[in-house]
Amino acid sequence: MSDKSTGRQETGQIDTVMQEERLFPPSAEFSAQARVRSLEEYQKLWEESTANPEAFWGQLAQEELHWFEPFHTVLDWNEPVAKWFVGGKTNVSYNCLDVHLTTNRRHKAAIIWEGEPGDTRTLTYLQLHREVCRFANGLKSLGVKQGDVVSIYMPMTPELVIAMLGCARIGAVHSVIFAGFSAEAIADRNNDANAKIQITSDAAWRRGKQLPLKLTVDEALEKSPTVEKCIVLRRTGAEVEMREGRDVWWHDLVDAQSDDCPAEPLDSETTLFILYTSGSTGKPKGIRHTTAGYNLYAKKTFQWVFDHRDEDLFWCTADCGWITGHSYVAYGPLSAGATQLMYEGAPNWPQEDRFWKLVEKYRVSTFYTAPTAIRAFIKWGDQHVDKYDLSSLRLLGTVGEGINPEAWMWYHEKIGGERCPIVDTWWQTETGGIMMSPLPGAIAAKPGSCTKPLPGIVPKIVDESGREVEPNHGGMLCIAHPWPGMLRGIWGDDERYREQYWTKVPGMYLTGDNARQDNDGYYWIMGRIDDVINVSGHRLSTIEVESALVSHPQVAEAAAVGRPDELKGQAIAVFVTVRDAEPNDALAAELKLHVRKEIGALAVPSDIHFTATLPKTRSGKIMRRLLRDIAAGTEIVGDTSTIEDYSALAKLRDDEE
Ligand code: WTA
Repeated sequence: MSDKSTGRQETGQIDTVMQEERLFPPSAEFSAQARVRSLEEYQKLWEESTANPEAFWGQLAQEELHWFEPFHTVLDWNEPVAKWFVGGKTNVSYNCLDVHLTTNRRHKAAIIWEGEPGDTRTLTYLQLHREVCRFANGLKSLGVKQGDVVSIYMPMTPELVIAMLGCARIGAVHSVIFAGFSAEAIADRNNDANAKIQITSDAAWRRGKQLPLKLTVDEALEKSPTVEKCIVLRRTGAEVEMREGRDVWWHDLVDAQSDDCPAEPLDSETTLFILYTSGSTGKPKGIRHTTAGYNLYAKKTFQWVFDHRDEDLFWCTADCGWITGHSYVAYGPLSAGATQLMYEGAPNWPQEDRFWKLVEKYRVSTFYTAPTAIRAFIKWGDQHVDKYDLSSLRLLGTVGEGINPEAWMWYHEKIGGERCPIVDTWWQTETGGIMMSPLPGAIAAKPGSCTKPLPGIVPKIVDESGREVEPNHGGMLCIAHPWPGMLRGIWGDDERYREQYWTKVPGMYLTGDNARQDNDGYYWIMGRIDDVINVSGHRLSTIEVESALVSHPQVAEAAAVGRPDELKGQAIAVFVTVRDAEPNDALAAELKLHVRKEIGALAVPSDIHFTATLPKTRSGKIMRRLLRDIAAGTEIVGDTSTIEDYSALAKLRDDEE
């Protein structure tokens, strides 16, 4: 990073103060065996795909999916309503399972699973197919029909994936709710979706303790009048109350079922799932994804970005309660016939080395996790990593937030042994799959940049008036052309869908993120549009200030927010967790000096709050709205001169921010 002066912008553009010059090309060996082997090859692919997206996606859809009936139209686009592969009939469960049964993947492991207590299970494609068929027959026996909504609140067990695929097989719509949400949050989602069936387990293992999932569901179902039946998986053996006439054990439902359940030929635009995500106005949005387009996009992006090879062992650490678990645990890897590791529990149970122990034990080759986890690993210390042989790894990935360049370097050196490319993947629940990321054999990485768009994706960065901005100026990130994985709407609220994503910038999908492009055409995500800090008319992005702080050896994590300031409009307040230093005034002064040196006087924080932990959403994103309220003094906290544990406050805000 180096100093760079910033110019005042009148158009609502965002100033950039960060310059990252380091470039990490893939090794010649990696590129030589990659799917896409050079920048030129990538560029050719991208140009072809965007010159005629319909021809591009149409051909891929024919090659990659099984069609019970062929489609007649690739794209029917009537903004903001997209229909892909119109007239075709396919089935996602068929594409994930049945297609492999006639190949040499029939007896290949689909899921290698380890529970938190250390119990293990492996399911081959043939075995997984059988389990899914029996579960789908179980759903049918309860009267579940195409279009019915099934609410899933389960631990990361193979049955969670079996439940998702079982729904997909018969055209039921799943709504997976992360098993950390409260009864209230489950009931809200069940009611919004009119859920008919609930699936849960007796309890879930979490750091050696049992989370009483069934108990939480019992409370939620008191307020979910549309739910008729509740299927309960026995996981921990915890005692639960089974409500007569409503509750049924998973094993009782499934044991008697036949393992023959032909996949239902479903129209391409049949709803596959809804997934609730945070909205800026509080009420969670049910993001709706459909069958063929989503399936194709999850499969192809998995193959491109993770450069998937049959001999890989892929491990995505995300929970199926989030979109990452939908696209890169369930649907992408299974469509591609991959073998994946699935782990049930916490990364620090029984010790902080659990992930590396798993990598060594199973010889994981591709590892995909979130920056929040990487920052935790750094904080826990290298001794937990150094004990293990991580030489099986060949590719690393991140998702969910921007990664600070210092954390990127640690990931590269400590986990990747300076050998593995890192794919920093930018995407959203709404996009269905990865939108920007290096193709690891083709595009050299820059720490902190998600680099370039995937084939078929056309990003644009625009200012308030909708005009494209110059390189190195931040603006609103939009996508110019529909893509198969895009959301099809917000469940039950067409107007909100139009309003949120398609109104502000005409003719483009509005992502809600800010970004800039550098002189090499690389994209840098600058945070959510609402998070911009405006200091004396300069609009700064949170990630740049945070990255400067994290580059200080004593800083583990940092979050920057704006707070009202009479003189400057806004002043920068930062929340910092330290490694093992004593947080005091001297360190605060040193950190201010450090930011001044790294990016300039403009970005020097006015307030530094030391905190034991940062408040995070359940998916691990920093809760900036809460921090803004604390910084502005509108959220009552105790004595802020001592170290606060703001995560306690986060728990009071029940929903995702
Ligand atoms: C942020 C997760 C920077 C971004 C798949 C986006 C990122 C939101 C990155 C979506 C990344 C995700 N770099 N920011 N690589 N990946 N984000 O819906 O603000 O949970 O809009 O989907 O996370 O979060 P969501």
